[in-house]
Amino acid sequence: MAAPMLSLRAVAAQVLLAVEQGQSLSQALPPALYQVDDHERSELQALCYGTCRWFHRLDAELQQRLKKPLRKQDRVIHQLMLVALFQLRFSQQASYAVLNEAVEACRDLGKPHLTGLVNGVLRGAERDGSPELTDPAAVLSHPLWMVEKLRHNWPDDWEAVLAANNIQAPMTLRVNQRQGSREDYLERLAEAGIEGRPTRFARNGIQLVKPQPVDRLPGFADGAVSVQDEAAQLCTSLLDLAPGQRVLDACAAPGGKTCAILESCDQLDEVVAIDQSEERLPRVQENLDRLALQATLKAADAAATEQWWDGQPFDRILLDVPCSASGVIRRHPDIKLLRREGDIVPLAAIQTGLLAAMWRILKPGGRLVYATCSVFPQENHRIIQRFLKQQTDARLVEPTVSWGRDMGAGRQLLPDPDSHDGFFYAVLTKPES
Ligand SMILES: C[S@@+](CC[C@H](N)C(=O)[O-])C[C@H]1O[C@@H](n2cnc3c(N)ncnc32)[C@H](O)[C@@H]1O
Repeated sequence: MAAPMLSLRAVAAQVLLAVEQGQSLSQALPPALYQVDDHERSELQALCYGTCRWFHRLDAELQQRLKKPLRKQDRVIHQLMLVALFQLRFSQQASYAVLNEAVEACRDLGKPHLTGLVNGVLRGAERDGSPELTDPAAVLSHPLWMVEKLRHNWPDDWEAVLAANNIQAPMTLRVNQRQGSREDYLERLAEAGIEGRPTRFARNGIQLVKPQPVDRLPGFADGAVSVQDEAAQLCTSLLDLAPGQRVLDACAAPGGKTCAILESCDQLDEVVAIDQSEERLPRVQENLDRLALQATLKAADAAATEQWWDGQPFDRILLDVPCSASGVIRRHPDIKLLRREGDIVPLAAIQTGLLAAMWRILKPGGRLVYATCSVFPQENHRIIQRFLKQQTDARLVEPTVSWGRDMGAGRQLLPDPDSHDGFFYAVLTKPES
C-alpha cells in the first residue's frame, strides 16, 4: 500500500529537520518534492528556502514563546512551528489558515499530543505580532559568528552584505554564444513574453525580471542558454582563452564554468574537467550533453596529480575551489545553518593545497584563475598573498575590468541585491623561463 501523502507543512518540517541535522537543501528537498502533489512543489520549495533564510529570526521568536524546548524526539514540531511562523511573518496567507494547517501537520507527523502547544504558540504569535528582537543574530537573521566575521572583514559593507544575503537572488542566464547573440536571445525572450535585460559585466548574461522555470525558456533543452550567476560568468574573460590551448577545470561539478569555457572559445585543444565527487560529476556530463559540448571528465582529487595527470602541462587552469559559499547565501540560505566558524581554517588549508598542486601542472607562460564564491578574505586574497610570497615564479595579473574591488591580490565582488553574487577571482601567471 502506498504511504499516505503528508501535508505540505509536514513535509517542509521534515526537510528543515534534515537541514538541521546537516543535509543541504539541495540534498533534502528533491526527494521531498515527490511527497507532495505536483501543484504544491513550488510552495514547498518556497517554504523551505524562506524558513532557512529567516531561520535565526524565527528561531529567536519561537524560543521566546516556548516555555521549555521540545524533547529531542519531537524536534520536527519545532521545525513545523518555524515554518508556520515564516508564513505568519513573511507570507500573505491568512493566519487562520496557517494555524489550521500547522495543527493538521502536527497530527500528520504523528504528534497529536502536541497540537495544543502548536495552536497556543501560533495563536500567541498571531495576537502579539512580531516581537522586539535585540540580538543581532536574530535581527539580521544570520549566525552570530558570521555577523561578527563580516563586520570585522568589511567594516563599511557588512550591513549591506547581510541585507543582500536575505533577499532572493535574481535569475541570470548565460547565452550560448555558439548558438546566437545575447541580442537575439533577448528577442526570443520578448517573443515568449519573458522580460530580461543584459547583465552589466558579463558579456553573455541576461538577468530576468522574474524567475522562470527553465522549461519556459526558449531553446533551453537545445542548449540556447544556461542558468548561471553573473559573477560566475566572469571566469571566461579572465582565462584569456585561445584556440589550441589545453585547459583544466580542476573543481568542475556541476560544470557551469566548464561549459562557459567551451562555449566561449572554439577549437580549444582539450578541456579536462575534474571533480572529487563521483556523485556530482555526472551533472557535468548532463550539462555538456544539453549544450552539445565535449570535455574529458575525471573523478579524482585534483591535488593527487599522480592519480590522474598524464604529464602534459596545462595552458590554462581554472581553480574554483571548495569554499564557505558565503557569497551565495541568498541562493543557498541553508548555508546559514550548515556552515560553522571552525570550517574556514580547514577550508583555507584545502584551498592552499589545491593551489600549490595546480601550480605544478601549469605550463610556463600559462595562466591560472583562482575563484571562490566566498566573501571571507581568509579564503580569498590572503591565500593569494601568501602564495605569491612563497612561490617565487608566480606573478599576479591585474585584469582591466570594471567590476569588483581590488584587494591587492585579486578582486572581490560582494553580493549585489540587484545583480551578481559574492565572488572572488585572482589571476596568476607563470613566466616562460
Ligand atoms: C565551487 S564548486 C565548483 C563549481 C563549478 N566550478 C561550477 O562552476 O559549476 C567546488 C567543487 O569542488 C569539488 N572538490 C572539492 N575538493 C576537490 C578536490 N580536492 N579535487 C577536485 N574537486 C574537488 C567539489 O566536489 C565541488 O563540486
